[in-house]
Amino acid sequence: MTGILDGKVALVTGGASGIGRATAVAMAREGARMAVADRGEDSAAATVALINAAGGQAIAIGGDVTREADVAAMVARTVAAFGRLDCAFNNAGIAPGAVGPGGQRVHELSQDSFDRMLAVNLTGVFLCLKHEIAQMLAQGGGGAIVNTASIAGLIGLRTSSHYVAAKHGVVGLTKSAAMEYAPDGIRVNCVNPGYITTPMTKEAVETRGPEILAKVPMGRMGTPEEIAEAVVWMCSDKASFMTGAAQVVDGGYYAA
Ligand SMILES: NC(=O)c1ccc[n+]([C@@H]2O[C@H](COP(=O)([O-])OP(=O)(O)OC[C@H]3O[C@@H](n4cnc5c(N)ncnc54)[C@H](O)[C@@H]3O)[C@@H](O)[C@H]2O)c1
Repeated sequence: MTGILDGKVALVTGGASGIGRATAVAMAREGARMAVADRGEDSAAATVALINAAGGQAIAIGGDVTREADVAAMVARTVAAFGRLDCAFNNAGIAPGAVGPGGQRVHELSQDSFDRMLAVNLTGVFLCLKHEIAQMLAQGGGGAIVNTASIAGLIGLRTSSHYVAAKHGVVGLTKSAAMEYAPDGIRVNCVNPGYITTPMTKEAVETRGPEILAKVPMGRMGTPEEIAEAVVWMCSDKASFMTGAAQVVDGGYYAA
């Protein structure tokens, strides 16, 4: 059996949970050697155990995407373990509930909440791109990067302005980086998930599940595996003419 990522080395951030975990597992299934990064090395280790048990090769890396030294170390450790970096999925992120009380409109948000949201969900992606691209250039160019945006990167959502601003920023970063590095053979895209069943959406589903599902033409939440399949493909050579794209995977939410 050959996989569409055979021979590639990939780094996934936020790989301990939800979409990141499912994508790390799917990338390994398709033949990639995996560096799985998350805030704690222990939590990333659980994903690594899944991959290694299925016959893949993976390492766990602890680090905070808001700290440049940590991000540089994630890339360096990947290269130390596997010799290079071909693919990256910059996916670590937080929901509004992680930075303050829910339900706040713009005039109610503290600057601390806004700054923390941007630090993780936007600056974190910038730092990852910076160090991953530097490594890809040092290898002589070539590579594929996918950033996790959201449908919130394309539309507004009431009481989530900080999250929406950060995710719109991810879309903009993606487009600009795609243009800058196309001549170097480095493709940069983002995936824009709709509502996906992960620990991040647990509370939202419990409090307003029917309201959310009413807006999804397919009438259900997506699974992390359904995002993973799109990301695997975008990272593979099968997506060789795709760069600068914001790829919606949302059960029809954005189209409606
Ligand atoms: N679940 C959804 O419906 C949905 C929809 C659209 C976009 N997203 C985005 O998908 C991504 C993954 O979310 P998920 O739903 O899998 O959530 P999740 O909470 O299951 O996973 C997020 C992971 O990111 C890690 N993380 C958070 N802050 C970090 C930091 N500073 N440094 C390193 N790691 C950090 C967490 O530890 C966690 O393992 C996020 O960027 C999120 O905004 C999710």
